[in-house]
Amino acid sequence: WRLVSLVSLLALLLGGCGKAFQSTLIPQGEAAKMQYDLLILSTSIMVLVVLVVTAIFLYVIVRFRQRKGQENVIPKQVEGSHKLEVIWTVIPILLLLVLAVPTVTYTFKLADVSAANKKTLDEGTSVVDVTARLYWWEFAYKGEKIITSQDLVIPAGKKVYLNLKGADIKHSFWVPSLAGKMDTNPDNANQMWIQADKAGTYNGFCAELCGPSHALMQFKVRVLNESEYKDWVAAMQKQDGKSVAASVQDGQKVFQQSCAGCHAVDAKDARPAAARIAPNLANFGDRDMVAGIADNTEENVKKWLKDPESMKPGNLMTNKYGKLSDQQIDALAAYLESLKLGQ
Ligand code: CUA
Repeated sequence: WRLVSLVSLLALLLGGCGKAFQSTLIPQGEAAKMQYDLLILSTSIMVLVVLVVTAIFLYVIVRFRQRKGQENVIPKQVEGSHKLEVIWTVIPILLLLVLAVPTVTYTFKLADVSAANKKTLDEGTSVVDVTARLYWWEFAYKGEKIITSQDLVIPAGKKVYLNLKGADIKHSFWVPSLAGKMDTNPDNANQMWIQADKAGTYNGFCAELCGPSHALMQFKVRVLNESEYKDWVAAMQKQDGKSVAASVQDGQKVFQQSCAGCHAVDAKDARPAAARIAPNLANFGDRDMVAGIADNTEENVKKWLKDPESMKPGNLMTNKYGKLSDQQIDALAAYLESLKLGQ
């Protein structure tokens, strides 16, 4: 257990590098805890087996080594031993049982997404359609009828069911602190649930090599206390992106002319999933990151608008907005940062 705490400490140090949290070894919710327990159990059993086998092996090498003056002595030859055969059959069976019982139990618990598949969802059941695209994430809340991107906001202490799909090619949804990886496929949907014990922000990643910006295909999971979450949902349902301060109306005009064809600023975006080809920006000003990778400052927004390719190679916005003047970009950045829920 000292080794376990050492590894955990190391993970804590490494995990502490960023602002948000990420470590499989420090699970922050029920699903991640089950997976962590299985990881520790199976590793412990493997280490135990290696240690015992190595000890026996070393003992045999030393005990039956060739001694001086006995070069031609052949040790006692043994053929068949019921006792030994029983021992080396029963011990592996017991070890496999110790491994199999929790593995099967947890696998069924983790795979239970029946609550998400009812025709009418029970009151308070959260289901989110997650769509992975080159190189960003969309989150569409089924019951709440709101859409957002890049920040998955969930309530603390509650199971949130996810329907995972890839819109273009195969990606993989991974929030190390909250659950193991799950592929997002274009052809068939996968389902999982996540749950976070405490409020906080957790890092999420794409875990399937998908192109030049695979490593930059990041997102956040923002966990709010239940009442904060309810307020967030209510504010999102009201967000239509129409009324903005007079100071950013120039930027709003630029947005409507150049960006609105692909990006929505309405959190209830009525277009079908296939038509939502660019990230929804309804609460852009509240987000931690620009394009999932740079701190959300006006400076970085401008950098992104000017040359997205330099920040995220191969992304689909690349070079389409080269014609905007510096003045337009300044106005646009101010407008985008003003898109807040005002909570
Ligand atoms: Cu998407 Cu890697």
